[in-house]
Amino acid sequence: MNVILRGLRVIDPLQGIDRSGQDVWLRDGRIVAIDRRVNANGVPVLDLAPPPGQSERVLCPGFIDLHAHLREPGEEKKETVNSGADAAAAGGFTQVVAMANTKPPVDSVARVGQARVRAARARVRVLVAAALTRALRGTQLVDIAGCATAGAACFSDDGRNSMSEHVLTEGLRAAARTGRPVLVHPEDEAMIAASNPDMPSVVRCPERPVEAEVAAVTSALRALEAAGTGHLHLQHVSATPSVDLIRQAKERGLQVTAEVTPHHLSMWQPFEEEPDPVSLRKVNPPLRSELDRAAMVHALRDGVIDAVATDHAPHTAEDKVGDYADAAPGMIGLETALSTCLSIGGMGGDWMPLLVARMVAGPYAVLGEGCGLRRPHLGVGDPANCTLFDPDATWTIGGRPFRSLSSNTPLHGFELRGRVLLTLVDGGVAYLETQESPAAGVVEAFGER
Ligand code: DOR
Repeated sequence: MNVILRGLRVIDPLQGIDRSGQDVWLRDGRIVAIDRRVNANGVPVLDLAPPPGQSERVLCPGFIDLHAHLREPGEEKKETVNSGADAAAAGGFTQVVAMANTKPPVDSVARVGQARVRAARARVRVLVAAALTRALRGTQLVDIAGCATAGAACFSDDGRNSMSEHVLTEGLRAAARTGRPVLVHPEDEAMIAASNPDMPSVVRCPERPVEAEVAAVTSALRALEAAGTGHLHLQHVSATPSVDLIRQAKERGLQVTAEVTPHHLSMWQPFEEEPDPVSLRKVNPPLRSELDRAAMVHALRDGVIDAVATDHAPHTAEDKVGDYADAAPGMIGLETALSTCLSIGGMGGDWMPLLVARMVAGPYAVLGEGCGLRRPHLGVGDPANCTLFDPDATWTIGGRPFRSLSSNTPLHGFELRGRVLLTLVDGGVAYLETQESPAAGVVEAFGER
């Protein structure tokens, strides 16, 4: 690879850079130069300047996903670390945090070690979240210091929230001693169980009231206050009152951060036209009202919510057919995150640079280098870890196979705007859009592997 990409918009949130009309010279996987005009004798130039009236193609540091379910070990039919990493690369992500609710869960030092071995083979950088409590049962903390030493990036029982406030307080204190945050899935399980009297599994319960989220956010913030230390990160916030609680907690100086998913930014119930099967829209926490959706968009824009995180939750077709109440919750999101946020998630147009910030700098601020993330930036001289995307190019979701082994998304058949053309990880091509690439020449320039 030795090519000058001409006419790009370069966005690097951590360096405060947003410049149009840039040349980017890539040689042997490294960024050699970024400037208004790069002249290098004999180096081929690939002109990516857009047709009149269209937005420039964007080059930015690779996106970071704080929240993906990669299902290995135990549910390799749904996803493996490798297939999940491929899906991540196709979505422009170069770093992904894998959740701990695998089968068995990542809840011991040995399992963190095994998960890290699997992660090391992946096409993108996969960080390992350890569970906060053994078997995600909420009673006994994992060996937090040991798991951190073994390389856990953070602690999370995501998918479940069965611990008492006291256990969370102790967990926050122990995690603080390792410099790691605790990521909490804020849904009060007792309230959910009470709303679904005949359901044996709290995970699959269909009735999940706003009050259950509000109670869990309130309780988690109280635990943080009681701990007197620590970093609480609230996952997939979905309800308007949660935003107010987070805002107030930040104003009080608590170390709390939050994420929102592309689906909670873009979808609400009732659906105009239900997906088929209808449980493709079943997700925890559930899609809420249009007002809640708007509140999530505003909270992301004004920074009360720090980051976009996919909650990529692959499930088999069998898991999604049949009774809504029995179906598994979750939808895939890695490959559709950018376009969902840009076209239907309130973050397109002039909001696009801020979206990039919330997918790059936001997640980095939540975890940081201390937890194993690499600083996302376009460093001249460094191996390229970056994403090239076309904010205007459209594609049909499901029009071609997903990289993910699963395809559970209610967006099937939707035409969305925003297409990832190229993802480079450590200077190597992790993803290249080869079909109908809207930017002629990219395939030729990067096709050789
Ligand atoms: O819908 C969801 N599915 N939400 C979660 O928090 C967990 C996830 C899963 O693991 O399937």
